[in-house]
Amino acid sequence: MTGSCNGRPPAPLLEVVNLACHFGQRRHPLAQRRIIRAVDDVTFTLEPGESLALVGESGSGKTTVARLVLGILPRTSGDVRVRGEPVSFGDETRRKALSRSVQMIFQNPLDALDPLVRVRNQIIEPLHIHGLNGSGGHMARASAIMADLGLESTLLSRYPHELSGGQLQRVVIARALVLEPQILVCDEPLSALDVSIQAQTIDILKRQQRATGMAYLFITHDLRVVRHMAERIAVMYLGRLVEEGPVETVLHAPQHPYTRALVASVPGLSRRDRTRSVPLSGEPPKASSALRGCRFHPRCPLAEPRCRAEVPELLPIGEQHRVSCHVVCEGPMQSETLPPHIARGR
Ligand SMILES: Nc1ncnc2c1ncn2[C@@H]1O[C@H](COP(=O)(O)OP(=O)(O)OP(=O)(O)O)[C@@H](O)[C@H]1O
Ligand SMILES: [Mg+2]
Repeated sequence: MTGSCNGRPPAPLLEVVNLACHFGQRRHPLAQRRIIRAVDDVTFTLEPGESLALVGESGSGKTTVARLVLGILPRTSGDVRVRGEPVSFGDETRRKALSRSVQMIFQNPLDALDPLVRVRNQIIEPLHIHGLNGSGGHMARASAIMADLGLESTLLSRYPHELSGGQLQRVVIARALVLEPQILVCDEPLSALDVSIQAQTIDILKRQQRATGMAYLFITHDLRVVRHMAERIAVMYLGRLVEEGPVETVLHAPQHPYTRALVASVPGLSRRDRTRSVPLSGEPPKASSALRGCRFHPRCPLAEPRCRAEVPELLPIGEQHRVSCHVVCEGPMQSETLPPHIARGR
């Protein structure tokens, strides 16, 4: 149900509300169980034709969010809804129905392909699974996608190990697109590709999006790719969103000290290179339940006593721009200068 009848606005295409996923780990049978809070209180929406980039360093919880959105991992709490319909783990019928709307491209194409099956058969396999292989329209569209991606018949009759990395990634993209999903979750789809193939793949993804109005949840480490691929960016740190907003706003004038450090680590990314970065110190700790207050405080040069005690909320600080930081939310930092109350804290 979209909720568009009876005068209510339609539900967002994808709605993620206070999503959490905690893993229990026991190093020794007699040891206490340690809880890893891989994802905590994550909220965002995605509309048709939109691209949201999810960024953050290794272990920040990006893939876990993707797996929760696909319903292939049980959540601890919170909700995921596609057009108002809840996504839940373990309900195979619902998951199969959902897979027509939400598809995923993984980082390593070989993980998604069967080494013993020719790639053409793997591309059209989702049509068989959904009983659409008899549909002329769907088969014609599958052929059109393969042609658009430059997958000629000589390539299609090969096995995965007979293709290059770029060709394999195009096969995986084609396989994800044949069901005409409304949402494509891309988990580091470019990181195994060289720069020229990356550019081609970005072009392909953008072209497909323009043609179909599909929405992308685009996970990447690479902030340069974000500028090409997305209009909105959400920055994760140890399982929580620390900043979210329009790409140009966040990259031009990042507010959270972690985002500032990320942006400053890529030379030439910010339009104003005078943007003062807040240097990061130390390694990221584990997102365990022992960590109190703001998760960034052990590395944050701006940390105040309150940051060690209270978890900051993600609060609006501008047009569609939200930040989770006690210090910043008292007075947003500008591009060139830190305001006195922050400068004092350094
Ligand atoms: N099945 C699991 N059991 C226990 N811990 C897990 C499990 N899956 C992920 N984690 C932990 O959850 C945290 C987030 O992992 P996740 O794979 O989502 O990070 P990521 O942001 O995708 O990292 P990367 O950029 O390296 O791919 C990590 O600390 C990871 O070790
Ligand atoms: Mg990952």
